[in-house]
Order: sequence, then C-alpha cells, then structure tokens
Amino acid sequence: MPESLAEKIRAAGWDELKALANACSLCSMASSRQHVVFSDGDPGPGLVIVGEAPGAEEDLQGLPFVGKSGQLLTSMLESLNIVRRKDAVILNVLKCRPPQNRNPQPEEISCCGHYLERQLEILAPRVLLLAGRFAVGSLLKLEGNFSIGRQRGRIHQVMIGGRTVPAVVTYHPSYLLRSPLEKAKSWDDLLLLKSAMRDAGIL
Ligand code: URA
Repeated sequence: MPESLAEKIRAAGWDELKALANACSLCSMASSRQHVVFSDGDPGPGLVIVGEAPGAEEDLQGLPFVGKSGQLLTSMLESLNIVRRKDAVILNVLKCRPPQNRNPQPEEISCCGHYLERQLEILAPRVLLLAGRFAVGSLLKLEGNFSIGRQRGRIHQVMIGGRTVPAVVTYHPSYLLRSPLEKAKSWDDLLLLKSAMRDAGIL
C-alpha cells in the first residue's frame, strides 16, 4: 500500500473512508467485484460484528451478510433481540468478494486491514463479535491453523484506538449451515455476547 494512501486512510472520517474504499484498486479483486462492501450501518451502535468477506449476494447488493449465511446470522441475532443497524454495525475483513469465494489471501488481509482498522477506530465499539477464522485471526492476531473451538467461550480483549474492547468469538454462519449440529455452541456464544453487551451498558 502506498504510504500516501495509508496516511489518507488513517486520517479519514467515515464518509471519506467509504469513498476511499469504493475507489480502491490495490488488489486484483478491484476488477472482479461488482460492489465494494463497506459496512451495514454507520457509527452509533456499540456492537460491531466482523465477518470474512462478501459472497455473491453481498457483491451484488453491496451489503455484508445478506445471503444465506447472513440470513442465518440475522435471525439468530434477532431471536436474542439484537437488531442489525439499530444495535450492530456489520463489517468484513475483506471489502471485496474473492473470486469463487476462495479464502482471503494474507496480502489481501493486510491491505484491507488498513480500512478495517480505521473503521474500528471510528466506530469505537464497546463489544465485538468475531465470526469465523479470518475475523478471529485478524483481530486476535492469531496465525496458522488455530482452532476456533479453543477460542470460544471466553471474552477476549482487542486493542482499538488505545482502548481494550471485549470480543466474543463464534463460528462463521456458513459453517453452521454446513454443520447444523454446531448451532448449539453458537447459541452459547451469542448468550455470552449478550452478557458482554449488558456489562458494557449497551443492552
Ligand atoms: N460471509 C461473510 O463473512 N461476510 C459476508 O458479508 C457474507 C458472507
């Protein structure tokens, strides 16, 4: 990433950051994407949810988590009275859809990480929900083949803008669609999330 762009990102407000992301051409996904998927929601809510990367439906609509896995996530949250946009802003590690939904590559995560870092500084979340291994790996700075199962069930602390923010780890909803028996564990994660939100005074 050219230092001049990195500097602009570091200094940008929310709308300027969105404009910079919309114009981003740092990697090859710039030529395959239909939309840059910046966020669902604007600064305000105390909960920020971080997923992996847009899929086909997200690329089409320009919004995160609107396809099948997003519908599952949305309905699980709603059954606990957590409503998108009102209570939570949703982001992804990558802002553009990887071709054929392949995994994000390390250099893409590092490039897009400049946008994610600034988004989180501006949003100043009180609580984070990290969904899936790319969100967990990026924000907890875990490398290699770590197990999501071993990271679940406790509150982590993530440093954002010089402040520690409690973070709950959960499985990615697309994994739950493939392995529905794991849903029970995800419900436990969401209950932990609710208690972290209560502790933070945002529920
Ligand atoms: N999976 C994600 O991680 N994010 C989306 O926006 C859609 C599917």
